[in-house]
Amino acid sequence: MTSDKAAFLRCEYRENPVGIDAPSPRLSWQMESTRQGAMQSAYQIEVSTEETFGALCWDSGRVQSFETLGIPYGGAALSARTPYFWRVRLWNEENECSGWSQARFETGFLGSPWMSRWIGARDEEESCHYYRREFSVRGGLRAARLYITACGLYEAHINGRKVGRDHLTPGWTSYGDHLQYQSYDVTELLGEGENALGAILGDGWYKGPYTWDKKRELYGHKRALRCQVHLWYQDGREEIVSSDERWRYRRGPILSSQLYDGEIYDARLELPGWDKPGLSGAGWSPVRVLSPQVGELVSTLCAPVRAQRELRVQKILRTPNGDRVLDLGQNMVGWPRIRVRGRKGELVFLRLVETLGPDGNAYPYNLRSAKQELQYILKGEGVEIFEPHFTFSGFRYIQVVAWPGEPNEDSVLGVAAHSGMEQTIELRSGNPLIERLYKNILWGQRGNFIEVPLDCPQRDERFGWTGDAQIFARTASFNFDCFLFYEKWLRGVRADQFSNGAVPFVVPNILPRDWDLASAGPESTSAAWGDCVTICPWVLYTAYGDRRILEENYDAMKRYVGYMRAESPNGLWEGGSQLGDWVALDAKPGDYIGATDPLYTATAFYAVSTRIVAKVARLLGRQADAQEYEALYGAVRAAFRARFVRDGEVSEETQTAQVLALVFGLVEDGERPAAVRKLAELIERKGGHLDTGFVGAPYICFALSENGRADLAYELLFKEDFPSWLYQVRKGATTVWEHWDGIMEDGSFWSDEMNSFNHYSYGSIGEWIYRVAAGIDCDAEEAGGYRDIRLHPVPDRRLSELCCRYRTPRGTLESGWRMEGDKVEYQFTIPPNTTAILTLRAGEGARVSAPQNARSLGSSGGEARYLLAPGRYRFTVK
Ligand code: BGC
Repeated sequence: MTSDKAAFLRCEYRENPVGIDAPSPRLSWQMESTRQGAMQSAYQIEVSTEETFGALCWDSGRVQSFETLGIPYGGAALSARTPYFWRVRLWNEENECSGWSQARFETGFLGSPWMSRWIGARDEEESCHYYRREFSVRGGLRAARLYITACGLYEAHINGRKVGRDHLTPGWTSYGDHLQYQSYDVTELLGEGENALGAILGDGWYKGPYTWDKKRELYGHKRALRCQVHLWYQDGREEIVSSDERWRYRRGPILSSQLYDGEIYDARLELPGWDKPGLSGAGWSPVRVLSPQVGELVSTLCAPVRAQRELRVQKILRTPNGDRVLDLGQNMVGWPRIRVRGRKGELVFLRLVETLGPDGNAYPYNLRSAKQELQYILKGEGVEIFEPHFTFSGFRYIQVVAWPGEPNEDSVLGVAAHSGMEQTIELRSGNPLIERLYKNILWGQRGNFIEVPLDCPQRDERFGWTGDAQIFARTASFNFDCFLFYEKWLRGVRADQFSNGAVPFVVPNILPRDWDLASAGPESTSAAWGDCVTICPWVLYTAYGDRRILEENYDAMKRYVGYMRAESPNGLWEGGSQLGDWVALDAKPGDYIGATDPLYTATAFYAVSTRIVAKVARLLGRQADAQEYEALYGAVRAAFRARFVRDGEVSEETQTAQVLALVFGLVEDGERPAAVRKLAELIERKGGHLDTGFVGAPYICFALSENGRADLAYELLFKEDFPSWLYQVRKGATTVWEHWDGIMEDGSFWSDEMNSFNHYSYGSIGEWIYRVAAGIDCDAEEAGGYRDIRLHPVPDRRLSELCCRYRTPRGTLESGWRMEGDKVEYQFTIPPNTTAILTLRAGEGARVSAPQNARSLGSSGGEARYLLAPGRYRFTVK
């Protein structure tokens, strides 16, 4: 027996989850070992309903495999609402067997019917309704679960306590196709005798004002609740308490709670004891049974939004116009929690903004019609602590419009919330501006990963723009474990894909059917936006190594390529509603679309998506498809080249055009030097700056570093004047801006009409820092998820030192370097059960001192290559 073991056991990417609806849930683990070179050669999984593993539902037997990720359960059909125990052991490369490691999961409805009814109010207004019923629990309760969902948003309570720590549940999906429910273990909340179950319902995405027109009732007219409490007793009996006509409802203190506008709460109208047993029925009306038009009820597809951290007020300002403004020091997303004392009827009125304007006053204008306000009317009973229910805002500054007396630093806390995902990267560098940029990138993700990847969290938009989500995906996968988050969203992408294969601009698609940018008709899309359906699954497979994500999305990818193909009779994608290189600096004044010909970007992405489909087809063993899409790729590439490459040079004279040709492989190897020379010249013409937009910016540093100009890539990264990543950092940004010139050198602002200070797209430079500067990469063609690690760090004197610790799905990988004089010291940690190929830059005359346990693969062209088994390594290059 070895001390190696399986650790970090996950079922459907969650630890001991309750409410699994996958018929064959995916099981994963990490090999844990302190030995150099530890590898898994085989594994065995057992699944049972008994903790003692008496009778087994599945015994995988000994499976000769290195795989530890996404192994599908392969036993007898699972039963609904049932706890299962699973354990795994492994054999290492010496064929020594480990002990068992054990975990749990519990199924949800697995598609079986709900017995509860949908219930709602008879009349409905702006104010939120409170719902309740009492029920009794006998002695000998063994376990209890609450399954709950809503049309709108709900907050559940049992016996005076909120159930769970989630917010904005049941979350946001394409409700007409699927609606999530949550499952909570409520055993501890219940007691023998009378119990009370309550829920507050808000409008949320379902029917509250949303989109820039503040359109109401996007999904339906009435809020509705559906829930079931299952009580399991020691004697084997089961009782179910359901939402049905026995419930009562009434108005309460929440006069209004909307996603964009905030909340108005009158504490004088609170309903003491509403969620406890023994309340008199006075003022409560019987509910109505409803039948809303929603799709399939599915167990929550990713961890819901939760309060993740609390930010204290850093400064209390008096702005030039005399306003009191509290500064949290960080642009964040969530809501404030207030602590106030005053007389009954006194008012707290807060307005939440991202920034101060050029005049130094709170600047609400870039929120457009989103109000982001909080009004709280005191009940006048000692210290009152309050946070809103069904809203979130993007803000750093809190303008105090009204407060009883003077607020102090302890009066308000910023509660930062986002969908559940764990941070997986830690970066240290010798440069404080780069560290701040890295922090801004993380905050951009925290603030915008709210149920779906939002473009921004503050103005009257906050949509799942498909382009933004695609652009940022690889960076996102380094920052946080966001596999489930994207997988959930991609289900929406498939649900909302148009019948012609086009992928909407936003998912869930809530834009009116007649909305389109370039009047190409309602069922159209733009390159780089629609391509989310090919690029995101490929990125997820690369980062997390789960083939199911490719299987799930394969047909949708093909349909999308089919859509472009139908509009490209000559291989050039002439259709669509193209956004080109969105918000690039080379756009004509007043225009959003950059100077690169949209036909160019469209066809370049058409080629990329086609190539991804071909690659995925090979991986999934669909050889005929692979051949077809390889041939199509060849044809599209040839059409592109015929149109845009003349005498070995890319004809479009923009940075983005050169960038795409280089990174998408649209120029031949022999043509690369010319393209990269041209790119350098175009950068030079801009005084050493980029002028790329959403499409070119994510790739510009790759185009340079992959073609011998890492020095120039670093120069772009280190630019501190406009336009650059560090320009905004120098201007005090604590998140990533939508525009390079969100705030100009002279302090004036880009137009209010579209000026978000928390837009993650340009945070995609994170990917270059992690993959090139720190050199953490993987070869996904065989197995994704960093089984075949590629390390190729690129040190640079201006950074002096960089270290990234990245928790890959297979274990923690570390890559660090430090430059001192003419010496570079490197340090690597390779997780168990993986192998790495390291490429070190060692120019002419350089001496590499390598540790004994690194196997040399030879050197050529100024590079030395090594094969690294799991373990720790130090190298020096002089
Ligand atoms: C959004 C962008 C989006 C773009 C496309 C903007 O309003 O904020 O991030 O991709 O529209 O039209």
